[in-house]
Amino acid sequence: MTWNRRWRSAGLVALPTGVVLALMAFPAPLPAGQVAPDKNSRQVTFARDIAPILQRSCQTCHRPDSVAPMSMLTYEDARPWAKAMKFRTGLRNKPYAMPPWFIEKNVGIQQYKGDISLSDEEIEQIARWADSGAPRGNPADMPPPRKFLDASEWQIGKPDLIVSSPSVTVKATSPDWWGPIGETPTGATEDRYVAAVEMKEVNDLQKRSDRQTIGGLHVFHHLIWFAIGGEGAQASDGQGWPIHEVGRNADFFDPDAGRLLKAGSKLVFPSAHVHALGADTTARLEIGFKFHPKGYQPKKKVRSVDLTATLDLDIRPLEANQKIEAYSTLTENTKVVAFEPHMHAAGVRMCLDAIWGTTVQTLSCSGYNHGWVRIYTYADDAAPLLPKGTILRVTGYFDNTPANKNVVDPRNWSGLGHRSIDNMLINIGQTISLTDEEFQQEMAQRRQRLHLTGGQTVLGCPLCGYSKIPVATVGSQPQ
Ligand code: HEC
Repeated sequence: MTWNRRWRSAGLVALPTGVVLALMAFPAPLPAGQVAPDKNSRQVTFARDIAPILQRSCQTCHRPDSVAPMSMLTYEDARPWAKAMKFRTGLRNKPYAMPPWFIEKNVGIQQYKGDISLSDEEIEQIARWADSGAPRGNPADMPPPRKFLDASEWQIGKPDLIVSSPSVTVKATSPDWWGPIGETPTGATEDRYVAAVEMKEVNDLQKRSDRQTIGGLHVFHHLIWFAIGGEGAQASDGQGWPIHEVGRNADFFDPDAGRLLKAGSKLVFPSAHVHALGADTTARLEIGFKFHPKGYQPKKKVRSVDLTATLDLDIRPLEANQKIEAYSTLTENTKVVAFEPHMHAAGVRMCLDAIWGTTVQTLSCSGYNHGWVRIYTYADDAAPLLPKGTILRVTGYFDNTPANKNVVDPRNWSGLGHRSIDNMLINIGQTISLTDEEFQQEMAQRRQRLHLTGGQTVLGCPLCGYSKIPVATVGSQPQ
């Protein structure tokens, strides 16, 4: 590629400063007809380029009556926000990025379900659109408007069953409160396996116009719940449901590991954490269940949550980039279904590594914003398959300085605790335990689907490239 062409196609920003200055002093003429305008040099317009991005990655929230403070449905709605859109999308995976999806793209596994993130090219297009006066373009290029189910659309589709928690009332300026909030019968009349679950806070303040942040929308910081009871229920049936956290997206379970919701069962809510919003608020959680078809039987055992966490937190005042690690050892062969960083206000980033013998793999790294606790569910062919004995390492990064707007007073030291001004370091990773046989089967499928040749290493599956693995003796040489 000649300098001429780069000058025209990539724009000034892509060139080293010295080159730009040289070109500005001696602009070389372009030979007539040599370079046809490509898509990097043509004008970026709302109708053709930006509207499709907003429809896919922004409008679920940025439309009237959804969670975001302003709409991005039309050109008129979006135009005033052009510069802010450039800024927030340009943050990529940093804590205030939009859309709120913080997986780092230069490290770890890149295939996740429900990924709403933007490609580098889309981020670049939004920036160029904002910088060139945010033109509308030709209205005929507009894609047809996206259809939404209704103002409270569910990411899992229309639930087959919605169970509401009891309501709690939080006074305008009351302190944080923790505790149990009771139970609700599910009303389920037959045993059904659950394919996906989604939790939404419903409160009487949500239509208020003066709210600024996602935190100003919700009183629930978290709500832990279980499904218990029902015909023939075992004590262990009470396990295995995701925790609601503020800003959380939906959970899609492994298709082979649906979770049982028994006829006659009830949901119990033993641990809520609520905080005041500045006005008296009555709130509850709606839990939407999407069922597998009748007659479905799961093929695998769910081991719900694998909490890799540490109690030993020592977060110093007025210091950025503080790094703390937590470890756990897998006692069974494990498929990691989801990565869910949970920290508190000072947290800004988390990484998850798998260590098997001398193999160390970074599975995922993501930015973290305590107003947006996200779960990242791996795509089926990318979910880590780890042999027993693997050590999981979680590394949390904390920014306890005024640069982190979530921290109320960064002059304070903080340690482990329940309040948002205290801290936590947990990966609430959902996992499935596999017998040696199931583990071999899953790896054989992966080998086939990904066309792996002997000995090839795959990210997230240290042994997938081998056809014969002595899984029973951890650490022995694969063949
Ligand atoms: C999951 C919901 C959700 C999605 C998806 C989402 N946003 Fe947002 N957005 C919000 C909420 C809530 C806020 C206000 C709170 C905050 O800033 O975190 C916000 C704030 C913003 C702001 C800040 C406005 C200001 O006051 O400066 C911009 C700009 C923005 N979003 C752009 C986008 C763009 C562009 C996309 C898509 C590429 C997007 N958002 C996707 C929910 C969302």
